Amino acid sequence: MVAARITVNGKETPISPAAPHTTVLDFLRERGLTGTKEGCAEGECGACSVLVARPGVHKPTDWVAVNACLVPVAALDGQEVVTSEGLATADASGAPAVLHPVQEEMAVRGGSQCGYCTPGFICSMASEYYRPDRCAHAGPADGGGSDGGSGGSEHGPNGFDLHALSGNLCRCTGYRPIRDAAFAVGMPAEDDPLARRREQSAPQPVATRYTQDDGAFLRPGTLADAVRLLRERPEAVVVAGSTDWGVEVNIRSRRAGCVVAVDRLPELRTLHTGSDHIEIGAAQTLTEIERRLDGAVPLLAELFPQFASRLIRNSATLGGNLGTGSPIGDSPPVLLALEATLVLTDADGEREVPLSDYFTGYRQSVRRPGELIRAVRVPLPLSPVTAFHKIAKRRFDDISSVAVAFALDIEDGAVRKARIGLGGVAATPVRALATEAALEGRPWTARTAEAAARVLRTEGTPMDDHRASAGYRSAMLGQSLLKLYARTTEAVPS
Ligand code: FES
Ligand code: FES
Repeated sequence: MVAARITVNGKETPISPAAPHTTVLDFLRERGLTGTKEGCAEGECGACSVLVARPGVHKPTDWVAVNACLVPVAALDGQEVVTSEGLATADASGAPAVLHPVQEEMAVRGGSQCGYCTPGFICSMASEYYRPDRCAHAGPADGGGSDGGSGGSEHGPNGFDLHALSGNLCRCTGYRPIRDAAFAVGMPAEDDPLARRREQSAPQPVATRYTQDDGAFLRPGTLADAVRLLRERPEAVVVAGSTDWGVEVNIRSRRAGCVVAVDRLPELRTLHTGSDHIEIGAAQTLTEIERRLDGAVPLLAELFPQFASRLIRNSATLGGNLGTGSPIGDSPPVLLALEATLVLTDADGEREVPLSDYFTGYRQSVRRPGELIRAVRVPLPLSPVTAFHKIAKRRFDDISSVAVAFALDIEDGAVRKARIGLGGVAATPVRALATEAALEGRPWTARTAEAAARVLRTEGTPMDDHRASAGYRSAMLGQSLLKLYARTTEAVPS
């Protein structure tokens, strides 16, 4: 097996002697690439953002921005990374480097003050700059208003999607100059090296066996190898995008003797639509699912922009969000409302489990040691009336206080079927079974909605904590159903 190595700004670098838990951020900074900053070390500020060459949705390669503070460097064995230093092009004569177009726009529009967040913004911006279908989503020529806030369009006249920056925080600029810079960048020039790089295949995943005194990072090449390995090492920590495990390592100083990466297993990276279901590979990132489905499952399309940030969605997977078993993960309420099933696999074979039977307790599930989530299946046809309401303190990049997903079949003015998934109201994500019963077979009227909202307020066993009180959580459940009713009947603005 070839020694683990990573290509940074075009230069191949051995990963050894880094520890298996060393993050890409620490690895880069220890080698002098200090443009990549540490702000929070838990995926919330984006100061550490770098670009990684990944298999593309519309081109062979996409330049994907990720949080370098969360990803172990061993996870990028054989991969290509570009940092903010690598975006500027140096002249061989020794003349000063020529700024990249996004760097230039940030500089001339005053998008940088103390500069701490700037390299991270630059990498997130560059990822969006190179998105091949960016211009297909152009917003109004004036950028959607002068308030610079949520009242303005989220797409610039150049198609720049501001959600690309939802994982980047700045303490100084007030964001307006940053938005101006984002909306001012043009299209990449024909001879732009990173634009040209998109036309060739992304680096293939590399089977990795990176072992040091303090542990091992293992990346099996196939699903068969992975389940065999997990049978031998049931204590191993399984990671995909590492957006959860990376926080444990950085903030809680957790270490694992063995980490097994499954995010590049081809068997977990499928996405296809059959006659009676859509099957989504558990290791597709949320960004990939969002772009590949392109609105085909409206409830998922509503979820994605509210799930953490673009930086997190570029790494996080459905399998990871379900595998951690968190009661406040954002995907379970939606997948419960969609009546999704999980395909679990181990060395003995596969089984399919309804998501409603999957969670058994706080961060516990029916998944056995050594078993992997291979895919999520969403049955077809989809219910036509859907909504996802996430109640949180911030609009983006936040953890929900409570989350509600609805999927209703309303025929001839009556509710034929109702499926409601809840997060943040119990030790596990749950279905609102009593509320579903209060809706089904009844006319879709204000009286029904109000009666069902009263039932919904009693679902689960919400708690008081630092995010919200139990009373507030219950109240928000009821309001959520009234909001859905108002939206479907246009009685009041949603
Ligand atoms: Fe804040 Fe990585 S350091 S997201
Ligand atoms: Fe200072 Fe953004 S320029 S934090």
